[in-house]
Amino acid sequence: MTITTCVFDAYGTLFDVNAAAREVAAEPGQQVFASVWQEVAAHWRAKQLQYTWIRALTGHHTDFWRVTQDGLDWALEKTGQSDPELRERLLGLYFTLDAYPEVPDMLATLKAQGLNTAILSNGSPDMLQGAVDSADLAALLDAVISVESVGIFKPDASVYKLVGERFGCDKDQVLFVSSNGWDATSARAYGFRVLWVNRAGEPLDRLPDPPDRTAADLTHVPAIAREF
Ligand code: LAC
Repeated sequence: MTITTCVFDAYGTLFDVNAAAREVAAEPGQQVFASVWQEVAAHWRAKQLQYTWIRALTGHHTDFWRVTQDGLDWALEKTGQSDPELRERLLGLYFTLDAYPEVPDMLATLKAQGLNTAILSNGSPDMLQGAVDSADLAALLDAVISVESVGIFKPDASVYKLVGERFGCDKDQVLFVSSNGWDATSARAYGFRVLWVNRAGEPLDRLPDPPDRTAADLTHVPAIAREF
């Protein structure tokens, strides 16, 4: 079956989730934060994701901006950071995260190949709009789909179902691209073709339904989409 539609996870896949903390750490006067920024970024992301899974399983949905703030608050307390301005600065930068450098050319190539392109993300619509606009990607995406229309986070299957509803395609016509191992395996279980982007050289998750392909970055997505 030919791939007609390439769908991307947003945070960690198209957008660099560590960019906010890295940027603040490089600012003048941030020597203390610079010594802990990697720890803050790792805790922030881990807690943000754990809160989405627990909220999905316990039926306590809230939007991704809330869990992003809650995850940051946990990370700042854990690392002994209590400056409210630092918190606001980090959150402000999270709204306008950098895209990875290969993203614009990769999306433009997919469009030139005649494929549909979309984001499918836990992000709230306003967060996604902020990131897409600041990275200047709007013209390269046919849809930006947020979980907010179903009110539950990934990996609930109702989220992956939104792709077929939007594009009218079959599951095996979709190449789903994620840097999150849990998202990749869940999308494969749903029935998409899946590319796991493993930038950090992490081991494969010990979960059912491994991804069809693995790549170190997004450069080869257009070629991989032609392989199915
Ligand atoms: C997203 C998170 C999971 O964009 O990275 O959905």
